[in-house]
Amino acid sequence: MMADAFSRNELIGLVVRLTLVSAVTFLSIKWLMNQVDPTNKSKKKAKKRAQEQLRRLAGSGNAPLSIDKLTDYEMMIAAHLVHPHDISVTWEDIAGLESLIQELRETVILPIQRKELFSDSQLTQPPKGVLLHGPPGCGKTLIAKATAKEAETRFINLDVSILTDKWYGESQKLAAAVFTLAVKLQPCIIFIDEIDSFLRMRNSSDHEATAMMKAQFMSFWDGLSTDANCTVIIMGATNRPQDLDRAILRRMPATFHVPMPNTQQRLQILGLILQNEPVSDDVNIQRISKATEGFSGSDLHELCRNASVYRVRDYMKTNNHNNEQTITNSVNDSEDEYHDALRPITMDDLLKSLTKMIESKMHCGSLPMTRIDLD
Ligand SMILES: Nc1ncnc2c1ncn2[C@@H]1O[C@H](COP(=O)(O)OP(=O)(O)O)[C@@H](O)[C@H]1O
Ligand SMILES: [Mg+2]
Repeated sequence: MMADAFSRNELIGLVVRLTLVSAVTFLSIKWLMNQVDPTNKSKKKAKKRAQEQLRRLAGSGNAPLSIDKLTDYEMMIAAHLVHPHDISVTWEDIAGLESLIQELRETVILPIQRKELFSDSQLTQPPKGVLLHGPPGCGKTLIAKATAKEAETRFINLDVSILTDKWYGESQKLAAAVFTLAVKLQPCIIFIDEIDSFLRMRNSSDHEATAMMKAQFMSFWDGLSTDANCTVIIMGATNRPQDLDRAILRRMPATFHVPMPNTQQRLQILGLILQNEPVSDDVNIQRISKATEGFSGSDLHELCRNASVYRVRDYMKTNNHNNEQTITNSVNDSEDEYHDALRPITMDDLLKSLTKMIESKMHCGSLPMTRIDLD
């Protein structure tokens, strides 16, 4: 009897201890899993950001969307929503591409904003895919930003690294979430910059998970295309359209070539870059625009930035010189004085900068080796 009671007590003690041990094990494993899961932190962060963006977008005229209706994966994509007020680029910041911009507005923005105008005909439906292609630095990203600003619609700037950089199986779920979210948010534009890095020609060396994700992405895209009432436009930009998968090109029927600027366009871009800068009267941008054959918009920007640095350098030089002469007056440079002392950008600065850039372009092989002729 005594022995029985003792063993019963012992048994209860054992059960209690076992329960405790398993509870502790369960909790620590759960904690460990959370620590080990590298996406845990980013998921939480994404959720917070998505909530904030959706709240702001609801405030700016778009129909509110309940956050509870989104899955975790959709939330991670929703974190990439762009609010038009956060974008500073407008159409006025893009020079020399007026006709392209006009066409793009009619193709992409108008059908989203004035859906009723396009509803009576199958042929006037907006394209489901738009591709901007052309050499680097000529304004593709700039155009996409201005589109997001003007369309005032939901705009997802899809960073494809979040699709490819996940654990096995996660990428497919995220790829699917891109589309399910876009349909919930519509009208919506999904922008994929450098789309060739993500949807380039599929080949046998592709990782299995990547190949599956691409296939899934395309089949969801097809789902969009067949649904006539759904206003989701995928906009892609690339420097290398020839590397894109043929199946992708087919899904982006509206293509826009953003070309290297010609002389007239370069003149307009230079005018835009220098319009609010102090330039001296001798600056002749016609001459610069003629001498910059083969320069992209971003090269022209760099040319002007460089020229502008020369005058700062000059100022520093003379200032240092003065300082050596009159050490006593060294601490009296208020901001106004500094600006007054800076001379405007001269033609010499621009030409010096141009020569430097042409030389470096020749060495890099992006300009043919010819005599530099600045006249
Ligand atoms: N048409 C243009 N008008 C004004 N600036 C331009 C133009 N094209 C390029 N730029 C300048 O070049 C930079 C890079 O342009 P971006 O749109 O990023 O080129 P990409 O075509 O490679 O996406 C812009 O930030 C802008 O300063
Ligand atoms: Mg770009």
